[in-house]
Amino acid sequence: MIKSIFYRFILSSFCLLLLVSCNTSEAENRIVEDFNFEWQFHLGDTANAQNIGFNTQSWRSLNLPHDWSIEGSFSEEHPTKPEGGALPAGIGWYRKTFSLPKEWKDKSVAIEFDGVYRNSEVWINGEYLGKRPNGYISFAYELTKHLNYGTETNIIAVRVDNSAQPNSRWYTGSGIYRNVRLVATEKLHVAHWGTFVKTPQVSKEQAEVELAVKLQNDSEAEKVYRVISRILNSEQQEVATITSEERSIQAKSTDSIAGVTRVNQPQLWSIENPHLYSIVTTIYENDKAVDQYKTPLGIRFFDFKAETGFTLNGVSTKILGVCLHHDNGALGAVANRYAIKRKLSILKDMGVNGIRTAHNPPSLELLQLCDEMGFIVQDEAFDVWKKKKVAADYHTDWADWYKKDLQDLVKRDRNHPSVFMWSIGNEIREQFDSTGIAITKELVGLVKELDKTRPVTCALTENIPEKNFIYQSGALDLLGFNYKHEDYKSFPNRFKGEKIIASETMSALATRGHYDLPAAEVKRWPPAHHAPFDGNEDYTVSAYDMVSAYWGSTHEETWKEVKKLDFIAGLFIWTGFDYLGEPIPYPYPARSSYFGIVDLAGFPKDVYYMYQSEWTTKPVLHLFPHWNWDEGQEVDVWAYYNNADEVELFLNGKSLGSKSKNGDDLHISWKVDYVPGILKAVSSKNGKVVLEKEIKTAGAPAQIKLTPDKKAISDDGYDLIYVTVEVLDENGNLTPKSNNQINFSIEGGGSIVGVDNGYQANLNSFKDKSCQVYNGKCIVIIQSNRFENLITLKASSPKLQSELLNIAVEPIEKKE
Ligand code: GAL
Repeated sequence: MIKSIFYRFILSSFCLLLLVSCNTSEAENRIVEDFNFEWQFHLGDTANAQNIGFNTQSWRSLNLPHDWSIEGSFSEEHPTKPEGGALPAGIGWYRKTFSLPKEWKDKSVAIEFDGVYRNSEVWINGEYLGKRPNGYISFAYELTKHLNYGTETNIIAVRVDNSAQPNSRWYTGSGIYRNVRLVATEKLHVAHWGTFVKTPQVSKEQAEVELAVKLQNDSEAEKVYRVISRILNSEQQEVATITSEERSIQAKSTDSIAGVTRVNQPQLWSIENPHLYSIVTTIYENDKAVDQYKTPLGIRFFDFKAETGFTLNGVSTKILGVCLHHDNGALGAVANRYAIKRKLSILKDMGVNGIRTAHNPPSLELLQLCDEMGFIVQDEAFDVWKKKKVAADYHTDWADWYKKDLQDLVKRDRNHPSVFMWSIGNEIREQFDSTGIAITKELVGLVKELDKTRPVTCALTENIPEKNFIYQSGALDLLGFNYKHEDYKSFPNRFKGEKIIASETMSALATRGHYDLPAAEVKRWPPAHHAPFDGNEDYTVSAYDMVSAYWGSTHEETWKEVKKLDFIAGLFIWTGFDYLGEPIPYPYPARSSYFGIVDLAGFPKDVYYMYQSEWTTKPVLHLFPHWNWDEGQEVDVWAYYNNADEVELFLNGKSLGSKSKNGDDLHISWKVDYVPGILKAVSSKNGKVVLEKEIKTAGAPAQIKLTPDKKAISDDGYDLIYVTVEVLDENGNLTPKSNNQINFSIEGGGSIVGVDNGYQANLNSFKDKSCQVYNGKCIVIIQSNRFENLITLKASSPKLQSELLNIAVEPIEKKE
């Protein structure tokens, strides 16, 4: 024992010395290059585009990540169908010419793709590297033996084939829509996704940290090495170290080692304070640092219990989650860190603490942000297994790829502290027949071989135990159930001793800012099986929380249940944001979903505030609808509130009475005969005013207001600013029914990359430089173009006073 402590001490001092002396070389050993810029693109198939001499003069230049579907026009005729977003798919080619420094000659070089939708095939200098059918999985290719160095260039070519349609129940996007990196290492290096960190014992006093490292030796010679992994806290101070003994690794082979250390008084990762450590693993070959590899580390412990649900770090915690598809609205499938961060920030403000990655492997950025911002992630692998849901979906690739895709998902994501459970599927058809048993056992086994620290779940629909063969397998750690909230109460009896989560809930429907009167009774879609939805001519759905799919419920109906039932670990609402595709309840021209609590443009619908009043402690008072009606019309006025005993409503200064929530009600309402003027709500507690909210009758549209979501933009070529565009009357009130067409022009260091108004049947292109406001609002998304310069956005419309907005562009270093 004493000997080993002594050994560790000597090594630690030795490392410190090494750290000081080898800093620069360590930093240079592993080069991770952003490989997104300056690609060429061709829409359509073309023969021989993988060949070195192929002429790409007519091809378009662009930067990745890129989604060609989102650039197209909507049409019912596209084979993606409105369910897939009614945008074009097809085949596309990408090429990039690049050169490498002579000094890289002795390195190992690989290319990493975070996600290509779909059926990507890759060539380097005309040599075929491989194919990857799954559009959501990340993958890498070793390039070394095919590369040229110095003045001779290299060409990487990627063919993307998304032509077999329909292959999804939602919008997928097409192309290299996630990031690409080039990674150069010495011949001896940490393998791709080569570390796995676990924290088998965690208490407030101490955490045991176990790290497994897989090394790869690409050289022709056997090597002697040692590994030192330093755990750094968020201030970059070293708090613990794992050191290996000297070992040898054969030529052209891999080797795996594991070590353990302890972190004293660990700062735990939690929803409120997601403290992140990092582990820097350095490989030494003859005392020379040859590779350095970073692994994120969040120290936390958690448990799911059959009777009492979920605890995080010993604290009972309801998972208040939403399901999210991967698209970023007007940007399509393009995985952009800033777009994802905005989405998560809007959800965090509502009180959301969980994300289900419906129904596929998410982007790296989503998981990094969930690590940093404190979200509990259900990481989901598949929407189908062997049995299809739509003609050309993943079932066609299942036999050849399910094993590798699932293993790669776990290997890629298992170091993220935000990932708390693996989901092997959503509403999988095999739950209904006995083939489900063997497949479930195999998939759970595959996950457990790679990670036993998290429960494996599956989102099920069949809640009669004898009829559900995925459940019958007995292999799941956690049962996920979608919908049927009326049955929840019976679950402890039906599924004795099982841990349960409401993996998908609600499927309520709404269009932001649209209200049907009277808000009398809850409506389901379809009212009877296969009957058409008795909807509106303009494809709107009322934003009072009173419409849902028949298999789901309104938001209030299910949340009321879940909040009372301790054995339900949490819920994931369908969905946090509207997404492209699945425009239930309407046919085309509806082309995006109505399920979101937030619309496609990022504007919250009213029910957002119901959750905020329930899921956060901040004071909330939300009053709706708008106050522009026909004289004498009876209007249902609703309010969501918290932290108060009652709310008093006033119309033009006259009290219409106070109300408070009865029983388990989640809103209050009044019936008010409309007269124009000012509607005002005042919430109070113990006779003291908590909040006041006013809505004024708006006059005619007169002016444009531009509100950016931040003041300055980084010149990194990725950063985005979302500018909210509102049409106001001459007194500055939002005009709640306006639909003016706003034209944008931009100068300086940025360009417009998307416009949207959140209306589900809007057929204008997201790439236009013009957008019609919908119910008074739209957004314009600006991206910096890597040149530091002021950006000026001008918004104008024939009958409105136009508006200018200046946005400062900051050098990269100032980036958040
Ligand atoms: C669920 C399904 C989701 C979505 C939703 C719409 O059954 O899991 O992907 O289709 O219905 O309500």
